[in-house]
Amino acid sequence: MPRDQAADAQHLYDDRASKYDDSWHPRFARHVVDLLDLKPGEHVLDLACGTGLVTFAAAQAVGSTGSVTGVDISSGMLAQAHLKQLHANIENVTFHQHSITSLSNLDGVQGQQFDTITCASALVLLSNPTLALKHWVRFLKPGGRLIMDVTHIRSQLGHLTLERVGKSLAIPVPSYRLNFESPKEFEDLLSAAGLQNLDIRLVSQAQASGHGQGIDAYVCDVNQPRIDRVYVVEDGQAIFERLIVSRYGEALAADGGRDRARELFLEEWAKLANDKGEIEEVDGVFVGVGWKPD
Ligand SMILES: C[S@@+](CC[C@H](N)C(=O)[O-])C[C@H]1O[C@@H](n2cnc3c(N)ncnc32)[C@H](O)[C@@H]1O
Repeated sequence: MPRDQAADAQHLYDDRASKYDDSWHPRFARHVVDLLDLKPGEHVLDLACGTGLVTFAAAQAVGSTGSVTGVDISSGMLAQAHLKQLHANIENVTFHQHSITSLSNLDGVQGQQFDTITCASALVLLSNPTLALKHWVRFLKPGGRLIMDVTHIRSQLGHLTLERVGKSLAIPVPSYRLNFESPKEFEDLLSAAGLQNLDIRLVSQAQASGHGQGIDAYVCDVNQPRIDRVYVVEDGQAIFERLIVSRYGEALAADGGRDRARELFLEEWAKLANDKGEIEEVDGVFVGVGWKPD
């Protein structure tokens, strides 16, 4: 049984590492880097860098006068990143295996301040995102910016429901711990960390695979998410059975907990239905940029 969030993430992502890039993440990471419009010479800290999807795209943008430092807890994910680095002979990137929630004792990061900090698809995994953000701002130069994303509350509904079951049973589920319904919630989080000039967008079809068009094609009205999928209450059973045998469900299924977890899951799932009995899913994430005051 993993001890804490970072150990949990390591366990989960070591397992996924070799197949991680066969997903929607490469396209989403590209969106994140496109939004930043990085300039040559910038020094970037890529938190929860994983297999280096954001790292290497950022490294290309900042060029040989800039640098990117990637930090991740998963040795499996970092091994994939190192392979890419070796293969493409990339010199302006350095990786560290460490938790992103305690950077003060990490050589290569402690005592440094970066122009840009990125954290793609990972803030929502942390146990205390508010505290993490405050910690990261210390490693930004005055006038530097931080970019991160938070899942829309109607996105990934199966995971959201599993997470709610975990909460009611006091069993941590390594799933999506943070979801927002409105941009205001994201603004509040960023302001509380001392960031300003906030720019919040809603990127739709975040989890759709494939490449296709640039970011503009996917940015939708921040207050009016697109409905991408519609389920019915009965779909909950199949969704539960799929998730409970995954890494996300294993803690809930342990010690004969599966039946109790199923019962609670189906109860929570049914609460998502509208008055027509439909459960509407948004495939979207809020992407936020905030600047540290000069
Ligand atoms: C969904 S992946 C995102 C990877 C990358 N940013 C991308 O966009 O493809 C989440 C990553 O967060 C890392 N992670 C989760 N919790 C962490 C922690 N406390 N410290 C460091 N890395 C963490 C995982 O190991 C995993 O590589």
